[in-house]
Amino acid sequence: MGRDAKAKTDLRSEATGMKSLSGMVGIVTGAGQSTDIGAAVATLLRERGVTIVTTDTNGAGMQVDVTNGDEVSSCVSEVLAAHGKLDILVNNAGTSIGSAAFLEQTATDFEIAVDVNVRGMMLFSQAVIPHMRDGGGGSIVNIASLSGLKAMPAVPPVVTASRFAAVGMSKAIAQEFGPDNIRCNAVCPGAVTTGTRDGAPDLVAGLESVATRDVIKAENSIIALGRRGEPAEIAALVAYLCSPAGAYITGTAIPVDGGMGL
Ligand SMILES: NC(=O)c1ccc[n+]([C@@H]2O[C@H](COP(=O)([O-])OP(=O)(O)OC[C@H]3O[C@@H](n4cnc5c(N)ncnc54)[C@H](O)[C@@H]3O)[C@@H](O)[C@H]2O)c1
Repeated sequence: MGRDAKAKTDLRSEATGMKSLSGMVGIVTGAGQSTDIGAAVATLLRERGVTIVTTDTNGAGMQVDVTNGDEVSSCVSEVLAAHGKLDILVNNAGTSIGSAAFLEQTATDFEIAVDVNVRGMMLFSQAVIPHMRDGGGGSIVNIASLSGLKAMPAVPPVVTASRFAAVGMSKAIAQEFGPDNIRCNAVCPGAVTTGTRDGAPDLVAGLESVATRDVIKAENSIIALGRRGEPAEIAALVAYLCSPAGAYITGTAIPVDGGMGL
């Protein structure tokens, strides 16, 4: 069968129910909060037949600090020992730290943002890539942010910088390991309803001495679809990127933001 014909066949089986994810093995980092994006990604990938190991500093299947190289490599070794291969890595662990005012940003804010949002992604990717390469390929999805594509008023500038770096690293990984059939993409959520983020409007309301509902209204007013996203709506793109339907997509940074800030 020619390559084009094979691609068409794979896509047809995709349309009949994502069967093609079945049998894969993956890791989702930062997935310890049941209401949040990492858990939604793990749930959807499991529904599609992927064996998923979740990690977080606590609350997940394995306790792993993404900034600790030893913990990251032990985690990858354990997953390989238990499941024999690794097809998918979703770097979802992240942090939004510091003030939204540039002049108030501290060196510590910068270090933490870069450590978790960029170095953690690098350490986990470095740990899995050799095994993906040996196994004939894989898919890495880095959960960045809309603030990795543009500056946004409420986002701390150090976090914006770290998200742009995460998008850049995703493209560099895609370029270097494309020949090994390893794809790497960044997913860039706008405002998503998660347990962690739900406190943000209260915080802004307190700082600006306004009602929380007015903060939420103002935020929704800059989203074309008029509402925040749901974790499952981010997970849907992650699953697509990991599946054969996404086989020709690499090095992208895709917003899932309901048209925020258009
Ligand atoms: N919710 C949103 O609106 C939104 C928007 C843009 C980007 N994001 C990003 O999407 C991802 C998921 O966000 P979420 O809203 O579901 O929030 P979340 O806070 O549940 O996700 C982040 C997880 O990362 C974990 N984490 C932090 N530091 C870690 C470390 N050093 N090692 C291991 N785990 C660590 C946290 O414990 C947490 O469980 C994060 O990277 C977040 O920054 C979220």
